[in-house]
Amino acid sequence: MSTLPDVALPDAPLHNMSQARTCEPSESPLKERGKEPGKEQRVSLPGKTNEKSVREPVIRAENFCLYYASKQAVDHVSMEIERGEVTAIIGPSGCGKSSFLRSINRMNDLIPGTRAEGLLSVGDRDVYDKRIDLVMLRRRVGMVFQRPNPFPKSIFDNIAYGPRLQGIRRRSLLNDIIEESLRSAALWNEVKDFLWKSALALSGGQQQRLCIARALATRPGVLLMDEPCSALDPIASGKIEELIVSLRKRYTIVIVTHNMQQAARISDRTAFFCLGKLIEYDETSRIFTSPANEQTEAYVTGRFG
Ligand SMILES: Nc1ncnc2c1ncn2[C@@H]1O[C@H](COP(=O)(O)OP(=O)(O)OP(=O)(O)O)[C@@H](O)[C@H]1O
Ligand SMILES: [Mg+2]
Repeated sequence: MSTLPDVALPDAPLHNMSQARTCEPSESPLKERGKEPGKEQRVSLPGKTNEKSVREPVIRAENFCLYYASKQAVDHVSMEIERGEVTAIIGPSGCGKSSFLRSINRMNDLIPGTRAEGLLSVGDRDVYDKRIDLVMLRRRVGMVFQRPNPFPKSIFDNIAYGPRLQGIRRRSLLNDIIEESLRSAALWNEVKDFLWKSALALSGGQQQRLCIARALATRPGVLLMDEPCSALDPIASGKIEELIVSLRKRYTIVIVTHNMQQAARISDRTAFFCLGKLIEYDETSRIFTSPANEQTEAYVTGRFG
């Protein structure tokens, strides 16, 4: 079995498990370093998270740094992101939010000259381990960008793209995955009668939910979202927020946002970044009501940034 986070869409068959096995290194790199990933500790979590008594980190960063050539974008960030929670990353422009987010599924690799230091893991896998299968990593850690980016194909083909790459051809199985993904992305009722229509004919908000459905179709455990509402009007934005809340628990979601109200509304924990550093990371209610750090307080109250 894969050691990456639990897959969602539990009714779909475990179609990629054989591939998952082939890319597993024989030893977990974290175990090699003497750590025990996923070890549960009893803690009491106030606010939104108080229904959960067991901490279960899925993403861990330890002194993680990211450079674009000589430019350091992420500076010794250490944090643990909990399974099934929504974690918001906030901070002024250029503080490394997107760089950190893109590191989690190694999207930064697409930018020449990037270099990572320290540890960043998903499940018990060091994502910068040379043996990691990047295709598998990005299937399990899906990403949604600021601007909706559907392929110039039908709605059906957009969602089927990932599963087809995984070798799924059977029409009945594809139909099931497409329906389940669109339902999870709260788009099914709006598009079920014209799945063969071009995805480009959808509104911006629908296109963004389509992109979320496309990410869900590859059965990720983790969903990364980089300002997913910033190109949308308030109504479409509200629908995406509702969707994120509905996906919580089934998925681990990390969202970058400039919208403080949005972070406060939808996230369990909030991380405040500034100049590449993680300044404060705590339950969202605490970050927005009684932050420990003066810089955080100045930022969340609009006095800087
Ligand atoms: N491709 C790149 N090449 C060189 N430097 C980059 C690149 N992308 C980002 N940077 C630099 O890295 C730093 C962090 O950028 P990043 O995009 O992660 O910030 P951000 O917090 O997401 O900002 P914003 O809120 O404006 O999206 C910035 O100084 C930025 O100029
Ligand atoms: Mg950014």
